[in-house]
Amino acid sequence: MKNKSLDIEWVRQQFPALKNKMAFMDNAGGSQTLKPVIDRITEYLTEYDVQLGASYHTSQLASEKLDLAKITIKNWINAKHPEEVMIGSSTTMLLRILSLCISQNWQENDEVIITNCDHEANMAPWRDLQKLGIKINTWKLNKDSYRLELNDLEDLMTENTKLVAVTHTSNILGTINPVKDIAKLVHSHNALICVDGVAFAPHRLIDVQDLDVDFYVFSTYKTFGPHQAVFYGKLALLTNMNGINHAFIESVPYKFQPGNLNYELSYSLAAIPDYIRKIGDNNLTEGFEMIAIYEQELANQLLDYLNSNHKIKIIGEISADKDLRVATISFIHSDLKSNRIVEQVDAFNIGIRFGDFYAVELIDDLGLRQYNGVVRVSLVHYNNSHEVDKLIGVFKSILS
Ligand SMILES: Cc1ncc(COP(=O)(O)O)c(C=O)c1O
Repeated sequence: MKNKSLDIEWVRQQFPALKNKMAFMDNAGGSQTLKPVIDRITEYLTEYDVQLGASYHTSQLASEKLDLAKITIKNWINAKHPEEVMIGSSTTMLLRILSLCISQNWQENDEVIITNCDHEANMAPWRDLQKLGIKINTWKLNKDSYRLELNDLEDLMTENTKLVAVTHTSNILGTINPVKDIAKLVHSHNALICVDGVAFAPHRLIDVQDLDVDFYVFSTYKTFGPHQAVFYGKLALLTNMNGINHAFIESVPYKFQPGNLNYELSYSLAAIPDYIRKIGDNNLTEGFEMIAIYEQELANQLLDYLNSNHKIKIIGEISADKDLRVATISFIHSDLKSNRIVEQVDAFNIGIRFGDFYAVELIDDLGLRQYNGVVRVSLVHYNNSHEVDKLIGVFKSILS
Protein backbone atom coordinates (compact mmCIF):
# COMPACT_ATOMS: atom_id res chain seq x y z
CA MET A 1 0.00 0.00 0.00
CA LYS A 2 2.78 2.44 0.86
CA ASN A 3 6.39 3.03 -0.11
CA LYS A 4 9.10 4.76 1.91
CA SER A 5 7.54 8.20 1.78
CA LEU A 6 4.34 9.03 3.61
CA ASP A 7 1.20 8.09 1.67
CA ILE A 8 -0.63 11.32 2.42
CA GLU A 9 -3.82 10.26 0.63
CA TRP A 10 -4.08 7.14 2.79
CA VAL A 11 -3.20 9.14 5.91
CA ARG A 12 -5.95 11.70 5.28
CA GLN A 13 -8.52 8.96 4.71
CA GLN A 14 -7.91 7.78 8.29
CA PHE A 15 -9.29 11.08 9.69
CA PRO A 16 -13.01 11.56 8.91
CA ALA A 17 -12.89 15.27 9.82
CA LEU A 18 -10.42 16.00 7.03
CA LYS A 19 -13.21 15.49 4.51
CA ASN A 20 -14.53 18.95 5.34
CA LYS A 21 -13.07 22.12 3.89
CA MET A 22 -11.26 23.30 6.98
CA ALA A 23 -7.46 23.30 7.05
CA PHE A 24 -6.63 22.30 10.62
CA MET A 25 -3.42 24.02 11.68
CA ASP A 26 -4.08 24.41 15.39
CA ASN A 27 -3.05 20.84 16.04
CA ALA A 28 -0.93 21.65 19.09
CA GLY A 29 -4.23 22.83 20.59
CA GLY A 30 -6.09 19.68 19.58
CA SER A 31 -5.67 17.23 16.72
CA GLN A 32 -8.29 15.46 14.64
CA THR A 33 -9.29 11.95 15.68
CA LEU A 34 -8.45 8.73 13.87
CA LYS A 35 -11.35 6.66 12.51
CA PRO A 36 -9.97 3.49 14.20
CA VAL A 37 -10.02 5.39 17.53
CA ILE A 38 -13.66 6.35 16.97
CA ASP A 39 -14.44 2.75 15.98
CA ARG A 40 -12.90 1.37 19.15
CA ILE A 41 -14.96 3.72 21.33
CA THR A 42 -18.11 2.47 19.59
CA GLU A 43 -16.93 -1.14 19.85
CA TYR A 44 -16.27 -0.86 23.59
CA LEU A 45 -19.59 0.81 24.37
CA THR A 46 -21.47 -1.65 22.18
CA GLU A 47 -19.78 -4.88 23.21
CA TYR A 48 -18.16 -4.64 26.64
CA ASP A 49 -19.77 -1.78 28.53
CA VAL A 50 -19.91 -3.34 32.00
CA GLN A 51 -18.01 -2.86 35.24
CA LEU A 52 -14.67 -4.63 35.35
CA GLY A 53 -13.60 -7.26 37.83
CA ALA A 54 -16.72 -9.41 38.04
CA SER A 55 -16.75 -13.14 37.30
CA TYR A 56 -19.35 -13.10 34.48
CA HIS A 57 -18.20 -13.47 30.90
CA THR A 58 -18.65 -9.91 29.59
CA SER A 59 -16.87 -8.40 32.57
CA GLN A 60 -13.94 -10.78 32.07
CA LEU A 61 -13.88 -9.93 28.38
CA ALA A 62 -13.92 -6.19 29.11
CA SER A 63 -10.96 -6.57 31.50
CA GLU A 64 -9.08 -8.56 28.89
CA LYS A 65 -9.74 -5.97 26.18
CA LEU A 66 -8.65 -3.09 28.39
CA ASP A 67 -5.54 -4.92 29.58
CA LEU A 68 -4.50 -5.56 25.99
CA ALA A 69 -5.01 -1.89 25.13
CA LYS A 70 -2.87 -0.88 28.09
CA ILE A 71 -0.09 -3.23 26.95
CA THR A 72 -0.21 -1.56 23.54
CA ILE A 73 0.24 1.85 25.20
CA LYS A 74 3.08 0.48 27.34
CA ASN A 75 4.82 -0.85 24.23
CA TRP A 76 4.23 2.44 22.36
CA ILE A 77 6.37 4.39 24.83
CA ASN A 78 8.66 1.43 25.63
CA ALA A 79 7.85 1.28 29.34
CA LYS A 80 9.32 -1.76 31.06
CA HIS A 81 6.28 -2.77 33.13
CA PRO A 82 2.53 -2.38 32.49
CA GLU A 83 2.07 -0.89 35.99
CA GLU A 84 4.26 2.05 35.00
CA VAL A 85 1.56 3.39 32.70
CA MET A 86 -1.47 5.26 33.95
CA ILE A 87 -4.28 6.77 31.91
CA GLY A 88 -6.09 9.85 33.17
CA SER A 89 -8.32 12.69 32.11
CA SER A 90 -5.61 15.24 31.29
CA THR A 91 -1.93 16.03 31.61
CA THR A 92 -2.80 18.84 34.02
CA MET A 93 -4.62 16.41 36.33
CA LEU A 94 -1.95 13.71 36.17
CA LEU A 95 0.86 16.15 36.97
CA ARG A 96 -1.18 17.56 39.85
CA ILE A 97 -1.63 14.06 41.25
CA LEU A 98 2.11 13.43 40.92
CA SER A 99 3.05 16.64 42.75
CA LEU A 100 0.60 15.91 45.58
CA CYS A 101 1.86 12.35 46.02
CA ILE A 102 5.60 12.79 45.57
CA SER A 103 5.82 15.84 47.83
CA GLN A 104 4.56 13.84 50.82
CA ASN A 105 8.09 12.54 51.27
CA TRP A 106 9.77 15.93 50.83
CA GLN A 107 10.86 18.39 53.48
CA GLU A 108 11.02 22.13 53.92
CA ASN A 109 13.85 23.64 51.86
CA ASP A 110 13.86 20.80 49.36
CA GLU A 111 14.00 22.27 45.88
CA VAL A 112 12.29 21.83 42.52
CA ILE A 113 13.52 23.34 39.25
CA ILE A 114 10.94 24.38 36.67
CA THR A 115 11.60 26.09 33.32
CA ASN A 116 10.17 29.27 31.88
CA CYS A 117 9.34 27.41 28.62
CA ASP A 118 6.78 25.06 30.08
CA HIS A 119 3.01 25.04 29.85
CA GLU A 120 1.44 25.95 33.20
CA ALA A 121 0.52 22.24 33.63
CA ASN A 122 4.15 21.40 34.49
CA MET A 123 4.73 24.57 36.52
CA ALA A 124 1.76 25.29 38.77
CA PRO A 125 1.67 21.88 40.53
CA TRP A 126 5.31 22.42 41.53
CA ARG A 127 5.06 26.13 42.26
CA ASP A 128 2.12 25.45 44.57
CA LEU A 129 4.39 23.33 46.78
CA GLN A 130 5.95 26.57 48.02
CA LYS A 131 3.25 26.58 50.69
CA LEU A 132 4.91 23.44 52.11
CA GLY A 133 8.25 25.27 52.23
CA ILE A 134 9.58 23.76 48.98
CA LYS A 135 11.85 26.17 47.10
CA ILE A 136 11.26 26.70 43.38
CA ASN A 137 14.06 27.76 41.02
CA THR A 138 13.48 28.60 37.37
CA TRP A 139 15.70 27.40 34.52
CA LYS A 140 15.35 30.17 31.93
CA LEU A 141 15.96 29.83 28.23
CA ASN A 142 18.68 31.74 26.43
CA LYS A 143 16.72 34.55 24.79
CA ASP A 144 19.03 34.72 21.78
CA SER A 145 19.09 31.03 20.88
CA TYR A 146 15.61 30.26 22.28
CA ARG A 147 17.23 27.22 23.88
CA LEU A 148 17.53 25.85 27.39
CA GLU A 149 21.27 25.61 28.06
CA LEU A 150 22.53 22.64 30.10
CA ASN A 151 25.18 24.69 31.90
CA ASP A 152 22.43 26.99 33.23
CA LEU A 153 20.71 23.94 34.69
CA GLU A 154 23.98 22.73 36.20
CA ASP A 155 24.29 26.09 38.00
CA LEU A 156 20.82 25.68 39.53
CA MET A 157 21.26 22.12 40.82
CA THR A 158 21.98 21.84 44.55
CA GLU A 159 22.08 18.97 47.01
CA ASN A 160 18.49 19.84 47.92
CA THR A 161 17.17 19.54 44.35
CA LYS A 162 14.52 16.83 44.35
CA LEU A 163 13.09 17.17 40.87
CA VAL A 164 13.47 19.00 37.56
CA ALA A 165 10.25 19.60 35.62
CA VAL A 166 10.89 20.28 31.94
CA THR A 167 9.08 20.15 28.65
CA HIS A 168 10.27 17.83 25.88
CA THR A 169 9.05 20.38 23.33
CA SER A 170 7.71 23.85 24.03
CA ASN A 171 4.19 24.28 22.64
CA ILE A 172 5.29 27.72 21.38
CA LEU A 173 8.90 27.34 20.27
CA GLY A 174 8.58 23.84 18.84
CA THR A 175 12.18 23.22 19.91
CA ILE A 176 13.04 19.66 20.91
CA ASN A 177 14.92 19.75 24.21
CA PRO A 178 17.74 17.22 24.73
CA VAL A 179 15.83 15.25 27.36
CA LYS A 180 18.27 12.34 27.44
CA ASP A 181 21.17 14.69 28.28
CA ILE A 182 19.04 16.62 30.76
CA ALA A 183 18.07 13.35 32.50
CA LYS A 184 21.72 12.33 32.74
CA LEU A 185 22.66 15.63 34.35
CA VAL A 186 19.70 15.54 36.74
CA HIS A 187 20.45 11.96 37.81
CA SER A 188 24.11 12.79 38.41
CA HIS A 189 22.79 15.08 41.15
CA ASN A 190 20.52 12.34 42.55
CA ALA A 191 17.40 14.23 41.52
CA LEU A 192 14.41 13.14 39.44
CA ILE A 193 13.11 14.41 36.11
CA CYS A 194 9.48 14.94 35.10
CA VAL A 195 8.88 15.60 31.42
CA ASP A 196 5.87 17.17 29.72
CA GLY A 197 5.77 15.41 26.35
CA VAL A 198 2.46 16.89 25.16
CA ALA A 199 3.91 18.93 22.27
CA PHE A 200 6.38 16.16 21.32
CA ALA A 201 4.21 13.04 21.28
CA PRO A 202 2.27 13.74 18.05
CA HIS A 203 5.52 14.14 16.11
CA ARG A 204 8.16 11.71 17.35
CA LEU A 205 8.51 8.34 19.03
CA ILE A 206 8.75 8.42 22.83
CA ASP A 207 11.12 5.88 24.36
CA VAL A 208 11.02 6.34 28.12
CA GLN A 209 13.77 3.77 28.75
CA ASP A 210 16.14 5.28 26.26
CA LEU A 211 15.49 8.79 27.60
CA ASP A 212 15.81 7.40 31.14
CA VAL A 213 13.15 9.76 32.46
CA ASP A 214 11.46 9.22 35.82
CA PHE A 215 8.06 10.64 34.87
CA TYR A 216 6.64 11.45 31.44
CA VAL A 217 3.16 12.70 30.50
CA PHE A 218 1.31 13.52 27.28
CA SER A 219 -2.25 14.25 26.15
CA THR A 220 -3.88 12.00 23.60
CA TYR A 221 -6.32 14.59 22.22
CA LYS A 222 -3.31 16.24 20.61
CA THR A 223 -2.04 12.85 19.42
CA PHE A 224 -4.96 11.84 17.18
CA GLY A 225 -7.03 10.34 19.99
CA PRO A 226 -9.65 11.32 22.56
CA HIS A 227 -9.47 13.70 25.54
CA GLN A 228 -7.29 11.60 27.80
CA ALA A 229 -3.66 11.62 28.90
CA VAL A 230 -0.96 9.01 29.44
CA PHE A 231 1.39 9.07 32.42
CA TYR A 232 4.58 7.06 32.82
CA GLY A 233 6.51 6.66 36.06
CA LYS A 234 9.37 4.30 36.98
CA LEU A 235 7.95 1.39 38.91
CA ALA A 236 10.28 1.64 41.92
CA LEU A 237 9.41 5.31 42.37
CA LEU A 238 5.67 4.70 42.08
CA THR A 239 5.86 1.75 44.46
CA ASN A 240 7.56 3.83 47.15
CA MET A 241 5.26 6.83 46.81
CA ASN A 242 2.08 7.42 48.77
CA GLY A 243 -1.06 7.31 46.65
CA ILE A 244 -4.18 9.43 46.52
CA ASN A 245 -6.86 6.74 46.30
CA HIS A 246 -8.84 4.96 49.05
CA ALA A 247 -6.44 3.86 51.80
CA PHE A 248 -7.00 0.14 51.12
CA ILE A 249 -5.91 0.51 47.47
CA GLU A 250 -2.17 0.04 47.62
CA SER A 251 -1.22 -1.34 44.22
CA VAL A 252 0.41 0.61 41.39
CA PRO A 253 -1.01 2.33 39.42
CA TYR A 254 -4.43 2.16 41.11
CA LYS A 255 -3.33 4.03 44.21
CA PHE A 256 -2.78 7.08 41.97
CA GLN A 257 -6.08 6.69 40.11
CA PRO A 258 -9.02 7.86 42.20
CA GLY A 259 -12.21 6.48 40.64
CA ASN A 260 -12.69 4.48 37.47
CA LEU A 261 -10.73 4.97 34.31
CA ASN A 262 -12.68 6.08 31.31
CA TYR A 263 -12.78 2.54 29.91
CA GLU A 264 -13.97 3.27 26.39
CA LEU A 265 -11.53 6.10 25.79
CA SER A 266 -8.65 4.15 27.32
CA TYR A 267 -9.54 1.22 25.07
CA SER A 268 -9.51 3.48 22.02
CA LEU A 269 -5.94 4.69 22.62
CA ALA A 270 -4.43 1.46 21.32
CA ALA A 271 -5.48 2.49 17.81
CA ILE A 272 -2.96 5.36 17.81
CA PRO A 273 0.30 3.36 17.85
CA ASP A 274 -1.36 0.71 15.64
CA TYR A 275 -1.97 3.41 13.03
CA ILE A 276 1.57 4.82 13.18
CA ARG A 277 2.94 1.29 12.90
CA LYS A 278 0.92 0.86 9.69
CA ILE A 279 2.47 4.03 8.26
CA GLY A 280 5.89 2.46 8.82
CA ASP A 281 5.00 -0.88 7.20
CA ASN A 282 4.44 -2.60 10.52
CA ASN A 283 7.25 -0.71 12.25
CA LEU A 284 6.50 2.03 14.79
CA THR A 285 9.98 3.58 14.69
CA GLU A 286 9.88 3.70 10.90
CA GLY A 287 6.37 5.23 10.99
CA PHE A 288 7.51 8.08 13.23
CA GLU A 289 10.65 8.57 11.13
CA MET A 290 8.52 8.94 7.99
CA ILE A 291 6.31 11.42 9.82
CA ALA A 292 9.37 13.43 10.93
CA ILE A 293 10.71 13.65 7.38
CA TYR A 294 7.32 14.62 5.96
CA GLU A 295 6.68 17.26 8.63
CA GLN A 296 10.12 18.71 8.05
CA GLU A 297 9.13 19.37 4.41
CA LEU A 298 5.93 21.13 5.49
CA ALA A 299 7.79 23.18 8.11
CA ASN A 300 10.41 24.10 5.54
CA GLN A 301 7.75 25.31 3.12
CA LEU A 302 6.22 27.61 5.74
CA LEU A 303 9.50 28.76 7.28
CA ASP A 304 10.89 29.66 3.84
CA TYR A 305 8.10 32.19 3.47
CA LEU A 306 8.16 33.45 7.07
CA ASN A 307 11.96 33.88 7.01
CA SER A 308 11.72 35.83 3.74
CA ASN A 309 9.42 38.49 5.23
CA HIS A 310 11.58 41.01 7.13
CA LYS A 311 8.61 42.14 9.26
CA ILE A 312 8.21 38.65 10.71
CA LYS A 313 10.25 37.28 13.60
CA ILE A 314 10.12 33.54 14.26
CA ILE A 315 9.93 32.79 17.97
CA GLY A 316 12.05 29.66 18.03
CA GLU A 317 14.36 27.83 15.62
CA ILE A 318 14.38 29.41 12.16
CA SER A 319 15.40 26.05 10.69
CA ALA A 320 12.99 23.22 9.87
CA ASP A 321 15.58 20.59 10.86
CA LYS A 322 13.64 17.65 12.28
CA ASP A 323 16.30 17.01 14.88
CA LEU A 324 15.93 20.54 16.25
CA ARG A 325 12.21 21.21 16.11
CA VAL A 326 8.73 19.93 15.37
CA ALA A 327 6.38 21.69 12.96
CA THR A 328 4.86 23.93 15.65
CA ILE A 329 5.86 27.37 14.39
CA SER A 330 5.26 30.67 16.17
CA PHE A 331 5.97 34.22 15.06
CA ILE A 332 5.24 37.90 15.62
CA HIS A 333 4.88 40.71 13.08
CA SER A 334 6.40 44.15 13.56
CA ASP A 335 3.26 46.11 12.54
CA LEU A 336 0.32 43.83 13.29
CA LYS A 337 -0.75 42.37 16.60
CA SER A 338 -1.10 38.59 16.60
CA ASN A 339 -4.88 38.61 17.06
CA ARG A 340 -5.34 40.88 14.02
CA ILE A 341 -3.46 38.39 11.87
CA VAL A 342 -5.37 35.33 13.05
CA GLU A 343 -8.75 37.03 12.75
CA GLN A 344 -8.06 37.72 9.10
CA VAL A 345 -6.90 34.16 8.44
CA ASP A 346 -10.09 32.77 10.05
CA ALA A 347 -12.12 33.98 7.06
CA PHE A 348 -10.31 31.52 4.79
CA ASN A 349 -11.33 28.34 6.63
CA ILE A 350 -7.86 27.90 8.03
CA GLY A 351 -7.60 27.16 11.75
CA ILE A 352 -4.58 28.81 13.35
CA ARG A 353 -4.38 30.60 16.68
CA PHE A 354 -2.78 33.39 18.71
CA GLY A 355 -2.04 33.90 22.39
CA ASP A 356 0.15 32.58 25.18
CA PHE A 357 -1.10 28.99 24.99
CA TYR A 358 -0.79 28.79 28.79
CA ALA A 359 2.98 29.21 28.46
CA VAL A 360 2.38 32.43 30.31
CA GLU A 361 5.86 32.92 31.73
CA LEU A 362 7.55 32.37 28.38
CA ILE A 363 5.39 34.95 26.64
CA ASP A 364 5.97 37.47 29.46
CA ASP A 365 9.73 36.83 29.73
CA LEU A 366 10.16 37.27 25.97
CA GLY A 367 8.16 40.53 26.08
CA LEU A 368 5.52 39.16 23.72
CA ARG A 369 2.42 40.16 25.69
CA GLN A 370 2.39 43.52 23.87
CA TYR A 371 1.79 41.60 20.60
CA ASN A 372 -1.08 39.70 22.26
CA GLY A 373 1.18 36.69 22.23
CA VAL A 374 2.39 34.86 19.15
CA VAL A 375 0.68 33.62 16.01
CA ARG A 376 1.05 29.84 16.11
CA VAL A 377 0.75 27.50 13.13
CA SER A 378 0.98 23.94 14.36
CA LEU A 379 1.22 21.36 11.61
CA VAL A 380 1.05 17.60 11.86
CA HIS A 381 1.57 14.83 9.34
CA TYR A 382 -2.01 14.92 7.98
CA ASN A 383 -1.57 18.47 6.74
CA ASN A 384 -0.44 18.74 3.14
CA SER A 385 1.58 21.17 1.04
CA HIS A 386 -1.60 22.42 -0.65
CA GLU A 387 -2.91 23.62 2.74
CA VAL A 388 0.42 25.23 3.60
CA ASP A 389 0.45 26.94 0.19
CA LYS A 390 -3.02 28.29 0.84
CA LEU A 391 -1.93 29.68 4.21
CA ILE A 392 1.17 31.29 2.69
CA GLY A 393 -1.04 32.89 0.03
CA VAL A 394 -3.27 34.38 2.74
CA PHE A 395 -0.23 35.56 4.73
CA LYS A 396 1.18 37.21 1.60
CA SER A 397 -2.03 39.17 1.18
CA ILE A 398 -2.17 40.43 4.79
CA LEU A 399 1.44 40.52 6.03
CA SER A 400 3.16 42.74 3.46
C1 LIG B 1 2.74 21.56 26.21
C2 LIG B 1 1.46 21.31 26.94
N1 LIG B 1 1.49 20.75 28.14
C3 LIG B 1 0.37 20.48 28.85
C4 LIG B 1 -0.87 20.80 28.34
C5 LIG B 1 -2.09 20.47 29.15
O1 LIG B 1 -2.70 19.34 28.64
P1 LIG B 1 -4.13 18.87 29.20
O2 LIG B 1 -5.16 19.71 28.52
O3 LIG B 1 -4.22 17.42 28.82
O4 LIG B 1 -4.13 19.09 30.66
C6 LIG B 1 -0.96 21.40 27.08
C7 LIG B 1 -2.27 21.78 26.54
O5 LIG B 1 -2.39 22.67 25.72
C8 LIG B 1 0.23 21.66 26.36
O6 LIG B 1 0.21 22.24 25.17
